[in-house]
Amino acid sequence: MVTDKVHDETKQGEAYAPFKDDPTVYRKRFYIESYGCAMNFADSEVVASILHKEGFGPTKNVEEADLIFVNTCSIREKAEQTVRKRLTEFRKLKKNRPGTLVGVLGCMAERLKSKFLEEEKLVDIVVGPDAYRSLPGLVEEAESGHKAINVLLSRDETYADISPIRLNSNGISAFVSIMRGCNNMCSFCVVPFTRGRERSRDAESIINECRELFDNGYREVTLLGQNVDSYYYTDNSQQAIAEPVTFAKLLEKVALISPLLRVRFSTSHPKDITDEVLHTIARYENICKYIHLPVQSGSSRILQMMNRTYTREWYQAKVDRIREMVPGCGISSDIIAGFCTETEEDHRDTLSIMEYSNYDYSYMFFYSERPGTLAQRRYADDVSEEVKKRRLADIVEMQNRLSLESNKKDLGKTFEILIEGDSKKSGKDWMGRSSQGKVVVFPKKHYDLKKGDYVMVRVNDCTQGTLLGNIVH
Ligand code: 5AD
Ligand code: SF4
Repeated sequence: MVTDKVHDETKQGEAYAPFKDDPTVYRKRFYIESYGCAMNFADSEVVASILHKEGFGPTKNVEEADLIFVNTCSIREKAEQTVRKRLTEFRKLKKNRPGTLVGVLGCMAERLKSKFLEEEKLVDIVVGPDAYRSLPGLVEEAESGHKAINVLLSRDETYADISPIRLNSNGISAFVSIMRGCNNMCSFCVVPFTRGRERSRDAESIINECRELFDNGYREVTLLGQNVDSYYYTDNSQQAIAEPVTFAKLLEKVALISPLLRVRFSTSHPKDITDEVLHTIARYENICKYIHLPVQSGSSRILQMMNRTYTREWYQAKVDRIREMVPGCGISSDIIAGFCTETEEDHRDTLSIMEYSNYDYSYMFFYSERPGTLAQRRYADDVSEEVKKRRLADIVEMQNRLSLESNKKDLGKTFEILIEGDSKKSGKDWMGRSSQGKVVVFPKKHYDLKKGDYVMVRVNDCTQGTLLGNIVH
């Protein structure tokens, strides 16, 4: 699948649904649309919580909103273009409803700052990812006719104490943000500039949030961060010196909440995922056997220019280690086609590392130069668009083959599936996921099951994207 990196392409731009049967009369209604990665979707839930405390109610209907927010992404030019298009649509809406305020949140707000207020006349509020607490004040300012902006990045903001409002969830799986920002400085990436320095969230608050989710019927949490393996938290509020919590420890603590709570995490950087983490994944049944391990390129020369700090061989050894320590583990990747100076030989190295790693799934992109990044300053974006697209097509073709092969290997096997809801195609079928993250569809039959239940399913057929099976005892 060629997509912006979020779990489900169909969710890009998805707006939040209001609470069901909510009788509260709200002062104002807000509408929020999110783009980009899972972190951004999780942030929108924090924003919803902050606004709700101020007496604002959520709406799914943009036409009745007093406040329209777009939580934006800057990772590729295309993501920014989508948002710009959307903003011009809101401009029309504003004409019919003067007084409606439009706010830009997230990475584009951070990247373009006040330029946004000048360039896009329709925008009233601009707020970067670390400034959401100031939203109520900014809204007030904008209501009095002044443009309002806060794009300050923070060294310590993690919104740890804010309980996100899950407005558009299936009630079974939720994202839990465990850290913010990124210190890696991959040369192609805008994230360090838009989301600032890396910081880890208070471990206690993470565990409490996960426990609360479980108590409310949730059965799966995905721990989110740009680089979860460098999670590291020391509680300085204690008198005695508290033991630091590493990512492996955090995983364990969340897994211990209940064996019925599945734990996932994303994203891992190959340089940081430790044996201790792999041991922990292997040790706990409810930690999902699935690792998102972006390779970006299979060529050591390109990897060095990308500042990924590993070589092709080093990455391959990491994959070997995962296969050895966590048998049957699903692995997925992010891949960039046509980075600066990439040759056909480099490209073939990417295809062959995909084959070596046997990815179950990949998010694939062609290189998009981003202003201000190391690559933009240092290297020429010298691979033509035509070549980038052809190489991307090769990569997609390779992944399609690998995904189908991986699914075929599951034929005849039985997996424990967490039921997420009805299948898209039929109310007579359930849809759920295996520990490895694969989507499995199977007939409900006469069994008395509901979403959030675990069930054993034997796979008897597959497509490239889905396993098909039947419930077994
Ligand atoms: N061009 C194309 N893809 C990019 N990514 C990050 N920056 C760029 C860029 N400038 C991809 C990487 C990353 C994923 C989130 O997006 O593969 O892992
Ligand atoms: Fe997009 Fe990256 Fe910002 Fe997520 S962190 S919204 S992927 S630019």
